[in-house]
Amino acid sequence: MKFTKGALVVILCLLFYVPKANAQNNGAGLTIGFAQVGSESDWRLAFTEATLAEAEARGINLIFVDGENNQEKQIAALRSFIEHNVDGIILAPVVETGWDEILLEVQAAGIPLVVVDRNVTADSSLYVTRVSSDFVHEGRLAAAWLAQKTSGNCKIIELEGTIGSSAARDRQIGFNEVIALFPNMEIILSQSGEFLREGGQDIMESIIQSEDMSQICAVWSHNDDMAIGAIEAMNEAGLNPGEDILIVSVDAIPDIFKAMMDGDANATVELSPYMAAPAFDAIGDYLAGETLPKWIPVPGTLFLPDTAAEEYAKRTQ
Ligand code: AHR
Repeated sequence: MKFTKGALVVILCLLFYVPKANAQNNGAGLTIGFAQVGSESDWRLAFTEATLAEAEARGINLIFVDGENNQEKQIAALRSFIEHNVDGIILAPVVETGWDEILLEVQAAGIPLVVVDRNVTADSSLYVTRVSSDFVHEGRLAAAWLAQKTSGNCKIIELEGTIGSSAARDRQIGFNEVIALFPNMEIILSQSGEFLREGGQDIMESIIQSEDMSQICAVWSHNDDMAIGAIEAMNEAGLNPGEDILIVSVDAIPDIFKAMMDGDANATVELSPYMAAPAFDAIGDYLAGETLPKWIPVPGTLFLPDTAAEEYAKRTQ
C-alpha cells in the first residue's frame, strides 16, 4: 500500500504525539507548580501541609516553591514552572498588584493558572479561576460579633495584615463597613504586624507603653497569629485579654482555641486551609475542556469559646 507524503506525515505525527498530560478531572498524573506566599503564620503552614497531602493523595507531581513573602521570588517561581512546562500552576499571591506581565507569560505558554487565597488585580481573563474565602465577609462577621458583644460601644486597636494584600485590605473594608453603623465604635489605632505573631506582640508592647489601655475595649486582628502575639504582650504587662480587652481575629488555628480555653481570646472567623482540592479539580476540569466560574468560594464561620475545647481537639488530633 502506497501512502502519499501527506498521509505519511499524519501517521508519523500520531505515532510520536505525546499528550501533554493525562487530564483526569482530579488532576491525577499532572505536574503542577505551586507558588506559595511563605510560612508567616500557622494558618499558612496548615494550608501548605494540606496542599502537599492532597497532591500526594491524588498522584499529582507537585513542584512547591516557598515565596518567602517576596513577590519577586514568586514571579521567578512562575517562570521556572513555564520552563518546566508544567501542566498547571497554583498561585497564592503575596500582594494584589504587579502580576499582569507574568500572568501574560503563563497564558502565552498555554498553562492554566488558578489563584488561591489572596487575590490579584490582574484581569480575570489571565487565570482560570480563584479559590478563596470572602475576606470582606470575614471582616463583617468579626465586627458584627464585636458590636453585639459591646452593644455598639467600643474603642478598638486594629492589627493589620500584610500591606497590599487583599486579605488585609478586604477584611478592613468589611470590618469598617459594619462599625460605621455604630457611632460609638471606633478604631483608634491601626498598624501592620505583617500577619506575624511577633508582629502582633511588638505592636502591642509599644501600644501598652504609649496608650491608656483602660480606654481600649478590643483588639481586632486580621489573623490569629498577631492576636496571640498581642495576648502574650498584654499578659506580660499584667493586663487581662479576653476579659477587660476583647480579642477577635481570623483563621481559627489551634492556638486561638487554646487561648479561648485559657480565657484570653473571644472570637475567631474560620479560614479553611483546604483549598487544594477545588484548585486541583479546576485545573483538571479546565484541561478536560470545561469552563469554570471565575470564583470558587470556600466558606468559613465564626467560633466562640463555648466550642473551643471541641475545636482544639478536632484540629490537633
Ligand atoms: O491570606 C490569608 C492570610 O494569610 C491568613 O489569614 C494569614 O494567617 C496568612 O498570613
